Amino acid sequence: MKLGIPRERHEGERRVAATPETVKQLAGLGLDVLIEADAGAAAGHADLEYLQAGASVVPALDPAVLDILVHVRPLEPATAKALRKGAVTVGLASPSSELATVQALAEAGVTSFALELVPRISRAQSMDALSSQALVAGYRCVLEAAIRLPRFFPLYMTAAGTVPPARVLVLGAGVAGLQAIGTAKRLGARVSANDIRPASADEVASMGGTFIKLDLETAEASGGYARELSADRGALQRELLAPHVAQADVLITTAAVPGRRAPLLVSRRMVQGMRPGSVVVDLAAESGGNVEGVVPGADILVPTADGQGHVTLVGLKDAPSAMASDASRLYAKNVANLLALMTRDGTVAPDFGDDVIAGACLTHDGAVRHLPTAEALGAVIPALPDHEPSVQDDRLQSEGGI
Ligand code: NAI
Repeated sequence: MKLGIPRERHEGERRVAATPETVKQLAGLGLDVLIEADAGAAAGHADLEYLQAGASVVPALDPAVLDILVHVRPLEPATAKALRKGAVTVGLASPSSELATVQALAEAGVTSFALELVPRISRAQSMDALSSQALVAGYRCVLEAAIRLPRFFPLYMTAAGTVPPARVLVLGAGVAGLQAIGTAKRLGARVSANDIRPASADEVASMGGTFIKLDLETAEASGGYARELSADRGALQRELLAPHVAQADVLITTAAVPGRRAPLLVSRRMVQGMRPGSVVVDLAAESGGNVEGVVPGADILVPTADGQGHVTLVGLKDAPSAMASDASRLYAKNVANLLALMTRDGTVAPDFGDDVIAGACLTHDGAVRHLPTAEALGAVIPALPDHEPSVQDDRLQSEGGI
């Protein structure tokens, strides 16, 4: 079977869906690997490395000749239409926002797997691209803050005097938030954090952060994800967080609720209440923002209430792509591991009796398999052989959430 790796076309995207290391893994599965010239260049991999790993480098990929297509960003509808019936795709698909592509994949009879839909269970951790890319984003957002902060992160006791450590506050302690806590701790900051899931207090402590307990009910939905707070609860949470935000030198926000706009945790007034020179990095900027007024991809200077300076509000965009080498290393492993689960003797033959495969399946045999996406398209889901339709959850993150 022919597997294709395209050069990603999305503006600003630097990642690639396979590395020379995973090409060896894919070739070892008996697949014939084709890669578009320069596909790995922005992630630090030259065509020659892919050749040496066993791939054929082609000037352009023709979707019509492929049995399998792996990708990073959601496919364009035109690419989906050009795939042949029965072809398999694996990659991020942003099903909630890329409905035209989902429709095209279904109509073309493509069996597509969306990495956003891989169940968050232990057995599927090696295929969990949401986690691997959130890890990269969580690390990166701390560096973005550190570089803009006109202060040290660590405590310094020098002959010229003592410099106190920076105070970092992290709101939202999922995969990205926990990584942000760990990274800020390693840089020497004093770190505190808040989340609305009950389990998060122990998780924050395990990364060396101090959990801020608010007098607010916790909000957990099925599968360990957060539930959206009511408008009243959201307002109360902002009120309770305000004094903690005012004390922070760096505020990092990563809060998300699957299938919803990112919750607003920080108002403009709260940002104005911070000290001059403080930095706010909003990792949720592309999915609506946790901070009022954030603009994805831009730094905004917000004047402080005391009139003495400003706070830098950073709308982080494409964070994993900014670390394309390691982001691709992890992403490519996620892709290859999912493919390995469904490949025998050089043939990709998904077993829909497997919960991971059935859960990750977006389209198959002319139908949309993911219930919330099918509903958004007004479609009906026929039963898969050996499996019920996928209702695991409605993790419909936008690309920005990754
Ligand atoms: P996410 O990206 O959906 O959300 C990020 C964080 O924002 C979450 O911790 C959420 O509780 C928090 N949040 C939402 N609304 C908030 C609010 N109003 N205030 C403060 N925080 C708020 O989450 P992510 O990183 O995808 O992880 C979600 C869950 O999935 C966690 O329980 C995590 O432990 C679990 N998980 C399980 C895995 C497994 O394989 N078993 C793998 C990865 C994650």
